[in-house]
Amino acid sequence: MTAKTIDPVLYRNAMSRYAGHVQIVTTAMGEEKRGVTVTAACSVSDNPATVLVCLNAGNQANELFTKSGRFALNSLAADQQPLAEAFSGMGKLPVEERFAKAKWLNLATGAPVLADAMAAFDCRLIEAKQVATHMILIGEVEAIHLGPNSAALMYFERAFKAL
Ligand SMILES: Cc1cc2nc3c(=O)[nH]c(=O)nc-3n(C[C@H](O)[C@H](O)[C@H](O)COP(=O)(O)O)c2cc1C
Repeated sequence: MTAKTIDPVLYRNAMSRYAGHVQIVTTAMGEEKRGVTVTAACSVSDNPATVLVCLNAGNQANELFTKSGRFALNSLAADQQPLAEAFSGMGKLPVEERFAKAKWLNLATGAPVLADAMAAFDCRLIEAKQVATHMILIGEVEAIHLGPNSAALMYFERAFKAL
């Protein structure tokens, strides 16, 4: 079977069995801010420290990530599910209200870094490439912040779980 014949519903069902750490990817430029709950993010390399994140290119608001040239990847703890929900668009809160739910730091690039993230990676965007429906953002890590270490917030079988 070639990739072209894979039914998107089958693909999503299979992916629902793929456990992912829930993260919020953020950016800021001037007064504008944007944060998105994601699971499609991972490490690329430890030297130089590099990460990637995949964002829906069909959402115009996500253009701020390529315009600003910076992003922070904030890994969430299990008790931060309400934050993950707010940044996934649940409740349709305005951007300022989403950010008002937590404390944010400014480290190296100016992207909002979640003070209580289990780990946060403050990145300079080094490459952006659109593949299919999504934009792959590759970032070189310029600063790391370690918040409290606790159970991780995961997404598995279409539900949030603690690990
Ligand atoms: C658990 C979970 C994981 C998600 N993963 C991604 C992802 O990896 N990439 C992405 O573009 N959107 C992902 N989304 C969807 C975005 O969070 C959502 O489309 C976006 O925040 C909508 O924001 P808006 O209301 O500000 O437009 C995920 C949502 C949830 C609940």
